[in-house]
Amino acid sequence: MEIIRIPRIMREITKNLKIKSKSIGFVPTMGALHEGHLSLIRRAKDENDVTVVSIFVNPTQFAEGEDFEKYPRDTEGDKEKLQKIGIDYLFLPEATSLYPQGYSTYVNVEGLSDKLCGKFRPGHFQGVATIVCKLFNLIRPNRAYFGQKDYQQILIIQKMIEDLNFDIELIPCPTIRDEDGLAMSSRNAYLNEKERKAATVIYTTLREGERLLKEGLKPKEVKEKMIEILRSEPLVTEIQYAGVYDPLTLEEVSEKQAKYLLAIAVKINNTRLIDNFLVY
Ligand code: PAF
Repeated sequence: MEIIRIPRIMREITKNLKIKSKSIGFVPTMGALHEGHLSLIRRAKDENDVTVVSIFVNPTQFAEGEDFEKYPRDTEGDKEKLQKIGIDYLFLPEATSLYPQGYSTYVNVEGLSDKLCGKFRPGHFQGVATIVCKLFNLIRPNRAYFGQKDYQQILIIQKMIEDLNFDIELIPCPTIRDEDGLAMSSRNAYLNEKERKAATVIYTTLREGERLLKEGLKPKEVKEKMIEILRSEPLVTEIQYAGVYDPLTLEEVSEKQAKYLLAIAVKINNTRLIDNFLVY
């Protein structure tokens, strides 16, 4: 595994790989790698000639007062995990090389970015779209792998790929869960034992929501039931959203339809967690 820190060098490498017609699989991450990330990386490795992983805690996707400073960082542990899997390149840029003084260009995917998480994290998806766009330009992957836990992020990146004519296939990958159903997330590291236990209410709520939808309850009734279950957990200190949404527009759904997105964002004490199910 080669570690590349300088964007210009990363671009030179991928340019040469392209000349040799090698397919490139890319997994962008913010590090603190867990089994969720590793499953994406293994898949990228299986499906491409060359695998590139980036680790970059992207400052522009954190709103003021969010957890940028304390976001879990474990570069040495991450390197070991990546070495073990046997990826080809780890791109590990400095913030100043991607956002030098005077940096002033941002990518904004209108509409989708204001829904769900966008309402509670102003500027978040602009930061995500901007960094992913920059990484796509440097790495020029054939395929890019994203976890379905961040469903809204996938929709936004897919829209950006289409709107900006990137020749990249976005591969959505299933959410990886702990045994009790909690979706793996780097932010789970913030939870103490009690909070970790309480966090399973997110999965329980999604399961119940899915069951009720399949039983034929109306989306509005399902939403009410979901909120009731979440409220029954004392460590849920804030419900940012919970309910039934259209999987393409992310608008709240009131009538029955063929496909639904069940989605939740809550705070367990101070830790914000999200999860979702697609229901067909
Ligand atoms: O999902 C993430 O970890 C981040 O949003 C991403 C895609 C690496 C961009 O910083």
